[in-house]
Amino acid sequence: MKTIRVMTIFGTRPEAIKMAPLVRELSRRESVESLCCVTAQHREMLDSVLYIFGLTPDYDLNIMEPRQTLSTITCKCLTGVEGVLTQAKPDLVLVHGDTSTTFSAALAAYYQQVMVGHVEAGLRTYDKYSPFPEEMNRTLVGDIADLHFCPTPANRENLAREGITKGVFITGNTVIDAMSTTVRSDFKFSTQLLNELDYNRRQVVLVTCHRRENYGEPMAHIMTALRRIVEDHPQVELVYPVHLSPVVREAAAKYLSGHDRIHLIDPLDVEEMHNLMARCHLVMTDSGGLQEEAPAMGKPVLVLRRETERPEAITAGTVRLAGTEEAEVYRLGSLLLEDQAVYAQMAHAVNPYGDGQACRRIADAIEWKFGLREEAPEEFRT
Ligand code: UD1
Ligand code: UDP
Repeated sequence: MKTIRVMTIFGTRPEAIKMAPLVRELSRRESVESLCCVTAQHREMLDSVLYIFGLTPDYDLNIMEPRQTLSTITCKCLTGVEGVLTQAKPDLVLVHGDTSTTFSAALAAYYQQVMVGHVEAGLRTYDKYSPFPEEMNRTLVGDIADLHFCPTPANRENLAREGITKGVFITGNTVIDAMSTTVRSDFKFSTQLLNELDYNRRQVVLVTCHRRENYGEPMAHIMTALRRIVEDHPQVELVYPVHLSPVVREAAAKYLSGHDRIHLIDPLDVEEMHNLMARCHLVMTDSGGLQEEAPAMGKPVLVLRRETERPEAITAGTVRLAGTEEAEVYRLGSLLLEDQAVYAQMAHAVNPYGDGQACRRIADAIEWKFGLREEAPEEFRT
C-alpha cells in the first residue's frame, strides 16, 4: 500500500495538547508514516503534555531559553526545522495554531517546498497587535499553508474573505478530542489543596493569565482586580496555576501573593487542569484554549483581553469579554459571583468548537488529498 510521510511539528503546551490526539490518529492510519518533531519552545510545560499523552518525539530541537525573545525563538526554530526536514523528507508538515514555532516551522517547510497543513486555521481578530504576535503568526501561516483545517464555519469565512478557498476543511477543534480522554468524574488530584477544596460550597475561580500583550500595565490591572474580587467575596477561592514565564511569575507574586484564599500554584498537567475546570465555578483567563474548553464543560468564562479570535462562545452566551481594565474586570467578576440569574444564563454547556471527531476528519482529509481514499471528509457542523 502507498504510504505518505506526515510530520507534525509543535513546541508549546497548547499546541501539544491539541496535536497529541492527531498524532495518535495519524499513527493508527496504515497509509501514513507519522513522525513528530518538537521544537521545545516550552520545555517543562511541553514535556508534561508529552508524558500524559504518552508521546515520544522523533526529533527534539530543545530550543527554549529563559526570557527568550520572539526573534531568537523564530531563528532557532527556522534553522532547526530546516535540518530536520532535510533529513526526514516528509510529504506533508502539520503545524498548529499561532505560536512562533507554528510560523517558523511553516516557513521552514515552505523554503524546502514541502506541503504545509495548518491545524486550527482561520481564527482572526484583525488586530495585528492583539493577540501579539499570534494574530500575525496565524495570518502568515494562512498564506503559506496548502491545507487549512478550520475548527468552525466562521473560520472558513475568514479565510474566504482573504481569498483562501482551496484546501479548506471544517473539522472542529482537536482540543475537544483531547478533552474526551482527560475528564473523569472520579479523578483524584495529586495535591491536597485541589482534593480538599469544597467545590460545592465555595466559589472556586480558576484563573490563568500569561499573554505577551498583557505584560506590564494590563496584567497589573487584571491582577489588582482579581485580588479585590477575592477580598470582597469571602466565599471565593482563587486558584491560579502560574505560567513558567518569569515575567508572569513576578507579576503574580507582586499582586496576588500573601492572601490565604488566593492559591498561586505551579502549572498543572493537562489532566489536572481539565478536571479542575470541570469542577470550578467560574473561569477568568486570557488563554485561547480555555475559551474553548470551559464552554464545553458548562463553565462561564470571563476573557481577560480586549478582543478574541474565538467569538463563537460569546455568541452562544457562555463567554464574555472583560477586557483588561481593573474596574470592568472587577465589575464583571463580582456580577457573576453575586447574581445567580446572570451566572445561570452563562452556565450551560455549548460545543461550538467541536464534537470530538476533528482528528479523524483531518486524517481523512489528508488521505483524500493524497489520493489514498475516495470520499472527501464530512464536515463538522455546529
Ligand atoms: C507562547 C506562545 C503563546 C501561547 C503560550 C502558551 C509565542 C509567541 N507565544 O507564549 O501564543 O499562548 O506559549 O503558554 O509563541 N518557560 C519555561 N518553561 C516552560 C515554558 C516557558 O521556563 O515550559 C518560560 C521561559 O523562561 C520562556 C518563557 O517562559 O522564555 C516564555 O515562553 P515563550 O514560549 O517565549 O512565550 P509564552 O508566553 O509561553
Ligand atoms: N493548561 C494546562 N495547565 C495549566 C494551564 C493550562 O494544562 O496549568 C492547558 C489548558 O487546559 C489548555 C492549554 O493548556 O488546554 C492552554 O494553554 P495556554 O493557556 O498556555 O495557551 P493558549 O491556549 O493561550 O495559547
